[in-house]
Amino acid sequence: MEWIKIFESNDEIQTKLNQNTPFRMIIQGKSICIVMRQSVLYAFENKCPHNGETLSKGSINYLGEIVCPWHGYRFNVKTGRECAERCRDLETFPVKETEEGVFIAVTSHTL
Ligand code: FES
Repeated sequence: MEWIKIFESNDEIQTKLNQNTPFRMIIQGKSICIVMRQSVLYAFENKCPHNGETLSKGSINYLGEIVCPWHGYRFNVKTGRECAERCRDLETFPVKETEEGVFIAVTSHTL
């Protein structure tokens, strides 16, 4: 597992992200969706496991799920679990904040 810096500081997060608004990042060539919910960052694959839609075009509902804009499947942003188990879960990635910045953990099979 490799930790990759995605933000330099909390100030950068505040300028780039809004609460409950999906944000797309390309990290080493892979599209990742980042969500800030209740001031916690979550990261997961940006491609819907159902049929490949871009999840960062979706929305976050009151349950903390990302809702795919195509067929409405809902995934928990923390666990990646699809609410009705209609397809596989999202791959999620650990996020950590340190004095040096914010990092996302990726594995070699991710990239
Ligand atoms: S492509 Fe996402 S729910 Fe169908």
